[in-house]
Amino acid sequence: MNEKATYIVMLGPPGAGKGTQAKIIAEELGLVHVSTGDLFRENLSNETELGRLAASFMNKGELVPDDVTIAMVEERLSRPDCEKGAVMDGFPRTPAQAEAFDALLEKIGGKVDMVPFITVPNQVLVERLSGRWVSRSGRVYHALYNPPIVKWVDDFDGTDLYQREDDKPETVVHRIEVYYEQTSPLIEYYQNAGTLLEIDGTQPIDRVTEEILKGAKA
Ligand code: AP5
Repeated sequence: MNEKATYIVMLGPPGAGKGTQAKIIAEELGLVHVSTGDLFRENLSNETELGRLAASFMNKGELVPDDVTIAMVEERLSRPDCEKGAVMDGFPRTPAQAEAFDALLEKIGGKVDMVPFITVPNQVLVERLSGRWVSRSGRVYHALYNPPIVKWVDDFDGTDLYQREDDKPETVVHRIEVYYEQTSPLIEYYQNAGTLLEIDGTQPIDRVTEEILKGAKA
């Protein structure tokens, strides 16, 4: 148990910039970036059973079942590198996951400290996801808004970038619908808990970061 652990939950629709911000914020605050999407994709590239199961939902734009996701997060947060806390990216994503997360944090003496809720209009989300290029290690670029120095090449390790399977336009539209149906109830959940911080995600990346850090240090 660590009394000083900090837990930040990034909330917002697919393409709002949760992953982009979570990486920066985690580094700034010395926390671990825990992305459930990245954990599923890692399992898929390692050809695990969990990876195959997750892909069968992800490729259709559906959510992976709660019990599978919660167990995976519990295991990840039990590792020593999470002792100071984590920036959660893509989790929780349903009311059942939010309740399970609160219960898990209570067990280890923590709580959700802040929930940056990044808002972006739907048409911008589609544009962002269709131009997104990612690295195998989870770094995120955009063909126009956040391009790498060399097209399709990761600035940091020189490996090839790729487009995610679930960034095809028809899957993107369904992911946004799933967000409104299953994840948007969390806005009220965290509003009631007094931890929600709404941020205009149409601002440049560094402005969004500034607002989140201001909230974290307040
Ligand atoms: P996941 O990987 O979590 O995807 P997502 O939530 O759909 O979010 P994205 O990664 O698409 O977007 P983002 O908000 O992180 O935006 P990004 O920073 O990349 O989940 C994928 C799938 O896994 C789910 O559909 C589900 O199947 C499964 N899954 C994951 N977690 C689960 C859970 N808890 N329960 C059940 N299933 C789960 O930015 C997008 C683009 O915009 C980038 O190109 C970026 O460079 C650009 N950009 C970012 N910010 C700005 C800005 N301010 N201005 C201009 N461009 C910007």
